[in-house]
Amino acid sequence: MALIEGSYPVDRPGIIAHYREWLPVTESTPLFSLGEGFTPLVHARWLGDELGLKQLYLKNEGQNPTGSFKDRGMVMAVAKAIEEGASGIMCASTGNTSASAAAYGALAGMQVVVLIPNGNIAIGKLAQALHYGAKVVAVEGNFDDALRLIRVLTEKHRLTLVNSINPLRLEGQKTGAFEVCDALKRAPDYLAIPVGNAGNISAYWAGFKQYRAGGRITSTPRMLGFEAEGAAAIVRGEVIADPHTLATAIKIGNPASWQKAVAARDESGGRIESVTDDEIVAAYKLVSRLEGIFVEPASAASVAGVIKLIRAGEIEPDATVVCVLTGSGLKDPDAAIAHAASLRETAATIEAVERSLGWAEALVAAGEKLA
Ligand code: F0G
Repeated sequence: MALIEGSYPVDRPGIIAHYREWLPVTESTPLFSLGEGFTPLVHARWLGDELGLKQLYLKNEGQNPTGSFKDRGMVMAVAKAIEEGASGIMCASTGNTSASAAAYGALAGMQVVVLIPNGNIAIGKLAQALHYGAKVVAVEGNFDDALRLIRVLTEKHRLTLVNSINPLRLEGQKTGAFEVCDALKRAPDYLAIPVGNAGNISAYWAGFKQYRAGGRITSTPRMLGFEAEGAAAIVRGEVIADPHTLATAIKIGNPASWQKAVAARDESGGRIESVTDDEIVAAYKLVSRLEGIFVEPASAASVAGVIKLIRAGEIEPDATVVCVLTGSGLKDPDAAIAHAASLRETAATIEAVERSLGWAEALVAAGEKLA
């Protein structure tokens, strides 16, 4: 099998090399990699205790090279684009896809063009796309508008479309499901995942089905997809013209893989539900404070959804539940700061620092008690 003439990690396989028997890989597919995949599956004891779930696991996809799960799909889509001799790639994005496309495009030496909804992507993602050298076009419209334009532009200019409507993206992303099963030595009972364009839930379901067909697992999980309430097109059963949510990554009103996600839900005996922004923020804080895992708001939708179903008595306390945490909290520092305690600004003296921490008053009070 060919290796790309270029850089790759020498100390770990990429997902293409590791899972090649399960992927559409040929003799001429480059096995290139930025070290994507093999992310931690954390047994979340503290959050589990809080929710009354003994077997709660968090799949921390924020540890991928560009900080989101998109890298699994992008490495596959870009490898195949190289194999087919493409000159460039293009995508529409709420941010993470653009960062990932820009990084893998840079590694492959390809032209990368991304369309983003102007003013509506987290600052870290924008910084990544620009810094990796992509041409970033900010359109006056939402993600759904940008995706509509991309479908035409990629046809017209013969560039490879690397949104999740490219089936190779889903092929790469299904390796997340393989890793979960490899780690647990079985399939979980429930797999909870945020839903935006609905590609990832479709990819995970394809992965579980393939592993069952290949004899690696004997059961498949119920798929639990969670949309943000202001962008819950699948839950409401209608396209949302003007979606809104603070979780900008999943602010999508017309999910491209809608039918695949519905099939994943129905075939698995699962559900697709919505969570409010308040529920997302509560879960966002809980995951970092209890487990030390900093995620972006959209990623917390999976945890918010599990909290909601647990409270409604719809998940059994002895079930094995995996929540996919799709992206790193560093992507969206504005959201993090807006939902954290405020900064304590002081002069650079011992007394001022103690006062800002409330310690000076505590010492005085203790002194008074002694006197
Ligand atoms: N979580 C994060 C952090 C995302 O960036 C996305 C999608 C999702 C969840 C939802 O995944 O679309 O497969 O249902 N982000 C895309 C983007 C749309 O452009 O980066 P999905």
